[in-house]
Amino acid sequence: PLIVAALLPLSVTEARVTFTNSEVLQASDFAWKDNVYRAAFKCDNGCSAYTDSRANNLYITEYDGNVYKAIVNFSNMGGNVRALPDPYKLNASNSYYIEDRGEKKPYDFVFYVVDRHAPNADTPVMVIDDDWGIDGNGEERLFTILSSKYDSVRYDQFAGGFQKGFPRIYSTGFDAVAEKECRPLYQASSQESASLSSITVFSPISTVEYGNTEAHNMHVAWNKDNSFAHNIRSSTVYSSPGYVGCSYTIQSYSSSIDKIEDGFFPSVISLDINGVYDQVTKDETVLLRVDEIILDFNGTGTLEKHFFYPSPFPLACSMSWQRKTATARWAVQMDFGMGEPNPAVSSTTLKAESTTSSGFEKAFLVSIIVSIIALF
Ligand SMILES: *[C@@H]1O[C@H](CO)[C@@H](O)[C@H](O)[C@H]1NC(C)=O
Ligand SMILES: *[C@@H]1O[C@H](CO)[C@@H](O)[C@H](O)[C@H]1NC(C)=O
Ligand SMILES: *[C@@H]1O[C@H](CO)[C@@H](O)[C@H](O)[C@H]1NC(C)=O
Repeated sequence: PLIVAALLPLSVTEARVTFTNSEVLQASDFAWKDNVYRAAFKCDNGCSAYTDSRANNLYITEYDGNVYKAIVNFSNMGGNVRALPDPYKLNASNSYYIEDRGEKKPYDFVFYVVDRHAPNADTPVMVIDDDWGIDGNGEERLFTILSSKYDSVRYDQFAGGFQKGFPRIYSTGFDAVAEKECRPLYQASSQESASLSSITVFSPISTVEYGNTEAHNMHVAWNKDNSFAHNIRSSTVYSSPGYVGCSYTIQSYSSSIDKIEDGFFPSVISLDINGVYDQVTKDETVLLRVDEIILDFNGTGTLEKHFFYPSPFPLACSMSWQRKTATARWAVQMDFGMGEPNPAVSSTTLKAESTTSSGFEKAFLVSIIVSIIALF
């Protein structure tokens, strides 16, 4: 889980992110003890392990009451195809560990270990291994992606057949997708919107759910500068780095990113905003602005706003956040819509509406539009 230098309440240094049927470990989960970096993981019923690392100093070991026996090193896990590792199957045990037996300096990796009875166990797990990234072509209902480098990936080029409301992206492994306590980071508002969207994910593990088994594809690659890409008629997703999205854990993945900054000017007819946030302290209030409308949030809650404009309306959108605590977590999806301008709306009846927003926001939008009209 997340380490924020010096600001961290000690309670959250508890290692690894634990799900109902899996665990995700990273280098920061190692504890230095008896001259070795080591971290325990669960395998109560037998399990499958996946990692994006091929380091030969990283081992799976088992404590037999006396010594830590080497079972395999990461260079011998996963088979021949680096981008599509085979699961490494382990029998049930309560004394498995990962260990660094090398240069005593753990570097980036993600280790995903999932119970043999977990849902969606046939899901392909892929590893981003080069600058090009992965083309996820196929008919699978789900794809899980591992990538510990840069702490950020970006999905785009969704195409093909999806069930309505899909694709979705979870910042978890395939097992948690089946749990009602886990929410997607991104959920397509329409097929067209999905095909135009670029979704930035600040997680070492993520799963795409298509909802069906038709032919479809997507592209995912390292997002080296942690940036966001925008397109009209598409979605933008912001989240706290390391965001997990399952209500039963307060943990986040470890991330070197502690700051989010973005600004852009879409010209749209509609904007739907949906967000969740938890334990965001006052001095790390998330600053979200849509023109002069202040949608900042802190504390714990949900955000839901809908804005409609009678004709394409240029919005100044901005997002800014700086992490101050390890436990703060939040995610916001913004869906920008660009239908045909409504011919029934003449300039004299022009008005803007925000379905759930306050009278102030409505009044404000109307006043912006009126002042823009006044310019002509
Ligand atoms: C990694 O493990 C394989 C077999 O499990 C072994 O042949 C190889 O020597 C190991 N590499 C290191 C560096 O220990
Ligand atoms: C796992 O368990 C099976 C069945 O008990 C056994 O045949 C196999 O040798 C075990 N594998 C390891 C690596 O211990
Ligand atoms: C967030 O925290 C500040 C205190 O710094 C408070 O004034 C504000 O009302 C809180 N809520 C929002 C939405 O900013």
